[in-house]
Amino acid sequence: MSKAHDRSGGFSTRAIHFGYDPAEHLGALVPPIHTSATYAFPDTGYGARCFTGEEKGFIYSRIANPTLALLEGRLASLEQGAAAVVFGSGMGAITATLWSMLEPGDEVLADMTLYGCTFSFLHHGIGRFGVTVRHVDMTDPQHVAAALTERTRVVYIESPANPNMRLADIAAISRLAHARGARVVVDNTYCSPYLQQPLVLGADVSVHSVTKYLGGHGDLMAGAAIFADAELAERVRLYGLKDMTGAVMSAHDAHLVMRGLKTLALRMDRHCQNAQKVAELIAAHPAAAVVHYPGLATFAQHELARRQMRQMGGMVAFELHGGLAAGVRFMDALRLVTRAVSLGDAETLAQHPASMTHSTYTPEERAAHGIAEGLVRLSVGLEDAEDILADIAQALDRAHDAGKAAGASAARADASSLSALF
Ligand SMILES: Cc1ncc(COP(=O)(O)O)c(C=O)c1O
Repeated sequence: MSKAHDRSGGFSTRAIHFGYDPAEHLGALVPPIHTSATYAFPDTGYGARCFTGEEKGFIYSRIANPTLALLEGRLASLEQGAAAVVFGSGMGAITATLWSMLEPGDEVLADMTLYGCTFSFLHHGIGRFGVTVRHVDMTDPQHVAAALTERTRVVYIESPANPNMRLADIAAISRLAHARGARVVVDNTYCSPYLQQPLVLGADVSVHSVTKYLGGHGDLMAGAAIFADAELAERVRLYGLKDMTGAVMSAHDAHLVMRGLKTLALRMDRHCQNAQKVAELIAAHPAAAVVHYPGLATFAQHELARRQMRQMGGMVAFELHGGLAAGVRFMDALRLVTRAVSLGDAETLAQHPASMTHSTYTPEERAAHGIAEGLVRLSVGLEDAEDILADIAQALDRAHDAGKAAGASAARADASSLSALF
């Protein structure tokens, strides 16, 4: 068997080798980047047969491209899917998939908390075209059982959810949805294929912002959808990607994603180790009101996390005593940790969801969907743990001391206004 067709090997072996044999490419160790937009047909009949599907040749890079096809094969292998389609961004993957799965009159049942632009697409995008969206709290699968109707086509989950880290039991929800004829789409961005395998747990589609851990270096925008059903993948490619969004990944970015994949397992191990330490540090600090991290024994869904995730991930969210003001003081005091949105990069990043990634929700919607105004989100990076911890500790101390000073001066002001009264 040629190396290109060898499906054996562990996760990292497939992340590095799957689908490629240097012997078939002039010995080139690294797969070539095919930049061609279009492909020559040897004769007209061949071209016509490519369009009917009788021939499997490449036609035009908005539909398929050899470099992208290699990446698609690798991603499908890593998440044990039948097929994958890659896109120019995570939102490209999510919108192309949902445009292809939904018709006017259908309903999406979505978890309470979603990434801001996914929420916006469901409410202000596809919602305008006769698709209804209902949210239920999917931390309890029984809520899903009670909410499914004959109109429910798609159950949509992020687990862990961006930004508050809530989990959903993917296996239980998939069983319930399938019994009612609905399909389950899981946004697996926070985990990457290394930490969680939604299709193995029973979901139908796993979508990713490849911009994050899969790319891993903050230097590209990309997305992917991995499918249990190859026919659905083909529908998403030929409709959602080709006609509805045109959200094509560039071959140069596919090359960078394949470079990122080679170190995915190593990077994720380190992200998880560093994040566990960061979560424990924050939880033990007097400034912290609540820390959301699946690896903490105090995390409400710790057992579910251990069941469906290989490790606990690189994302940490928390609230400080003093709410939003304290969170802003913390963020402004950071020196090494960078104030920026996005996640999954080598650099540790801090952001404030209510004013940044989740400002697509109104304040009332954030309150209803469990996104606290004072929540701070950290994407814990790959720097030395002691340096990350030292920076976070000093920023927590500063936020805490400033909070105490503000509390004391407020108490003094209260006392003086009281003495003025008497
Ligand atoms: C969980 C999640 N899904 C999807 C997206 C969208 O991905 P992209 O920014 O690559 O379009 C993001 C972006 O932050 C995200 O955090």
